[in-house]
Amino acid sequence: MVLTTDSMKNYFLFLFSVALLFVACTKDRIIEITPIVYPVEYWKKDSLVYTLYQGGVELNQQTTTYGISSPDTLTLSYENNNFRLTFLEQNKGKAFLGFTEGAFVIEGDSLFLFSGDTVRLKIVAKTDSLLVLESSILNGDYLREYRDYYQLLDINAEAPMVSFKSDIYEPIFYNNGEGSCMPCHNDDGGQMRLVPADMAYNELINGISNNDGGVPYINTIQPEESYLYRLVSDGNVEYVMPPNSTLTPFEIETILLWISQGAQNN
Ligand code: HEC
Repeated sequence: MVLTTDSMKNYFLFLFSVALLFVACTKDRIIEITPIVYPVEYWKKDSLVYTLYQGGVELNQQTTTYGISSPDTLTLSYENNNFRLTFLEQNKGKAFLGFTEGAFVIEGDSLFLFSGDTVRLKIVAKTDSLLVLESSILNGDYLREYRDYYQLLDINAEAPMVSFKSDIYEPIFYNNGEGSCMPCHNDDGGQMRLVPADMAYNELINGISNNDGGVPYINTIQPEESYLYRLVSDGNVEYVMPPNSTLTPFEIETILLWISQGAQNN
């Protein structure tokens, strides 16, 4: 090969750029890192432990457990750093689903929630399946400490099996005579009887609508077509149930889930 000045120049240019690349590499350590895009974490409130201290001495402790049909959840979406907190609000005997949402930041042992006010919660524990958040209020000599225990909900996992008796009949329909279908559907005649649980189940599983061309109350093949579901979720049916209030979105979802799981008498 004959080295002309031109090819020499090219050769040196080449060497020079290799050297440059080397310097750049050692300086900046060019390692390809694909940014980790975290998924969304759905935390379901499991229990609340409230402790009252006076001058550092524990006076009282109470634990509240949240059942399967409790809608209290904390959603942390790492893609846009947004959170959503849902909770059951009770007001004058009526319950409805409330929520707050906004941005969140995790810094050290603190979780900051920004939505109007900034809330700072201490992260007591955070593992793959357990999250414990603490907030406290100091009032003179008294310290009130609230520890919320959350469990990770795997939304891709199979939904828990809904029980007709303990997730629908007891808490929603009946509730010791104070439920959302009482007193209108109790056992003293009049409307369709939804008391006791077996009667309610039989009426619903075998029944068809009086008001809407014989549509079955329960349709496990097309759950959303079930007249029972439409009665509680769709404002356009002739008689919305209950007529004087509404079920919470979580209660409505529980009914739909129960139907889609085969509407069993469980
Ligand atoms: C304030 C009283 C009241 C409450 C509370 C109430 N209902 Fe009713 N319900 C009625 C009346 C009245 C009818 C009869 C409407 C008609 O057909 O004229 C009825 C009818 C029904 C029917 C039959 C509808 C049809 O087209 O065949 C179902 C099913 C039903 N209610 C379910 C429920 C459920 C479930 C709840 C609770 C989540 C509930 N109702 C709460 C008063 C009530």
